[in-house]
Amino acid sequence: MSTESPLTAGPAVLRRLGVNIDHVATIRQARRERYPDPVAAAIQAEQAGADQITCHLRVDRRHIQDHDLPRLRAAVQTLLNVEMAPTDEMVAIAHRELARRPGDPRRHRVTLVAERAEEITTEGGLDVVTHGALVREVSAGMAAAGIAVSLFIDPDTAQVEAAQALADVGVDMIELNTAAYAEAHGDHAAQGRELVRLATASRVAVQGGLELAAGHGLTHHNLPRMVAEVPEVVEYNIGHSIISRAVFVGLDTAVRDLITIIRHPG
Ligand code: PXP
Repeated sequence: MSTESPLTAGPAVLRRLGVNIDHVATIRQARRERYPDPVAAAIQAEQAGADQITCHLRVDRRHIQDHDLPRLRAAVQTLLNVEMAPTDEMVAIAHRELARRPGDPRRHRVTLVAERAEEITTEGGLDVVTHGALVREVSAGMAAAGIAVSLFIDPDTAQVEAAQALADVGVDMIELNTAAYAEAHGDHAAQGRELVRLATASRVAVQGGLELAAGHGLTHHNLPRMVAEVPEVVEYNIGHSIISRAVFVGLDTAVRDLITIIRHPG
């Protein structure tokens, strides 16, 4: 997993950064305007080195809108990772917008998430233990359409094992919810306990053959410790802190700084 980087003196670790551009759309939707355009942000994030563009089409459409998806798909040069709840409406949209097409070898990805109408942001992982049958059906449909599937779950061994049981319908990846780690900000011991949960879940996932992503609430402050203590994670999906920091330092710098943290730890 390690290679010499042409850009820095030290060895680089091939971890991927997915830049979540939802909150560019949050600003746009605050005025129901045409700007700022999340597609423009996606292009700039890729220019800064993002490996993937992530967005969340929420049932209430509070930020990303349906019309953003075909525009993102057309513009993105890397891969598109669309987070969505496993509802009939969302599944139909995924099949329409993300299915593999002739002439484009890429497999875009859906990350299935739990969603609650009143939540300010995603509050917890998908309960794959309880909803295994539904997730199985949705994942099988996505796989048939050439869409890769990841599941956003809490760092809990039972959830990881339930995800592993869906490998036969194309679930090849999980994203561990780092919200509890992020919320422990300022409490070194509490953060340490959350990192133990994340590390334990990560080892189970990797031993079971799943690729491992992580995300939610990660910032340039809390990311270095996460990267150091949970090295199994190969992909980070980060949004709110990047877009927030971009207001002050620009999107290019905000993206590059996180790439430096994940690829050149220590
Ligand atoms: N990963 C998943 C599955 C998410 O739902 C979100 C939030 O939409 C993120 C990553 C990004 O979280 P944040 O915006 O806190 O970086």
